[in-house]
Amino acid sequence: MSESPELLIVGIDSLIGKALFTVSKRGVPKVLGTTRRLATISAGMPVVYLDLGKLEDWQCPPTIKVAVFCAGITKIYECKNDPEQSYRINVTGISQLANKLLQQGVLVVYLSTNQVFDGLSPYPLPDDPVSPVSEYGKQKVEIEQQLRDWGKNFAIVRLTKVLGGDFPLFTNWVNTLKKGDIIRPFSNMMMAPVPLSSVISVLRLIIDRRSEGIFHISGDHDISYDEVARIGARTLGLNPDLIRPLTAAEAGYNEHIPPHTTLDTECLRESFGIEVTQVVWTIEQAFGEPQKLVGS
Ligand SMILES: NC(=O)c1ccc[n+]([C@@H]2O[C@H](COP(=O)([O-])OP(=O)(O)OC[C@H]3O[C@@H](n4cnc5c(N)ncnc54)[C@H](OP(=O)(O)O)[C@@H]3O)[C@@H](O)[C@H]2O)c1
Repeated sequence: MSESPELLIVGIDSLIGKALFTVSKRGVPKVLGTTRRLATISAGMPVVYLDLGKLEDWQCPPTIKVAVFCAGITKIYECKNDPEQSYRINVTGISQLANKLLQQGVLVVYLSTNQVFDGLSPYPLPDDPVSPVSEYGKQKVEIEQQLRDWGKNFAIVRLTKVLGGDFPLFTNWVNTLKKGDIIRPFSNMMMAPVPLSSVISVLRLIIDRRSEGIFHISGDHDISYDEVARIGARTLGLNPDLIRPLTAAEAGYNEHIPPHTTLDTECLRESFGIEVTQVVWTIEQAFGEPQKLVGS
């Protein structure tokens, strides 16, 4: 373990936690990461074991000043299919850990989602009333509310879809198109993606400045999945005629589909002078050079 770590990253095997840990290992403050994979822990590495389902004896080093929460059950269908188990991790476990840290005077940085809104209107503001529809969104709102009730020492960072590294859906589309087969992306499902590197930059600013409040990171507009596939095909020189969109209902998917996934990001400009990223650029990069978005 590093001496006197000040930054705790909960969940360094997650997409975002891994990139943040990689970047943070190089700088100050000294970082400590957590994992539930015993094989990841080795002598000399600033990594400790933490399972959000078994926190009873977990002690946070007293030197920690900021903790970024990246671990949890993050798949919408997993939360829906097993609400009790996901609640035990995403609400009971995270709440227990956050309370422990808040009582120690640690700044808690909690990663949340556009799914705290129903998506019926575009660009909700940070203080707009929440309206979650999915179980995942409802669990996120519970932790957000607990932090707001605590009243200080927290940053809630709501994210839209984060693109960086491997995104299995894109990999699958590309492999299918390369074989000359048809893909069927949903024409009525939206995303407003952001690059992983932008998320890491904002998190580093929040950590360094000890910024508190609610922050939104979002692409500049919504784009449908079939349009995303077309951008991917164009970027890689693949045949766009093999893209045959269908609606989610035609594919038998009957969950709530938010017509909008964007978030208002004026707070990023005001707090950090950061402009939102254009979704077309983000998608081109994700298909063309995925490693560039990893932030390492
Ligand atoms: N990625 C996005 O597009 C996106 C968008 C909006 C919000 N967010 C939020 O940002 C945060 C990070 O997302 P992500 O996509 O980087 O996560 P991710 O890649 O899905 O990883 C989630 C991590 O949580 C760990 N985990 C699951 N159960 C655990 C438990 N009981 N104890 C300890 N760790 C546990 C998993 O460990 P194992 O690897 O060992 O299974 C996994 O590494 C999440 O809060 C997510 O809701 C992400």
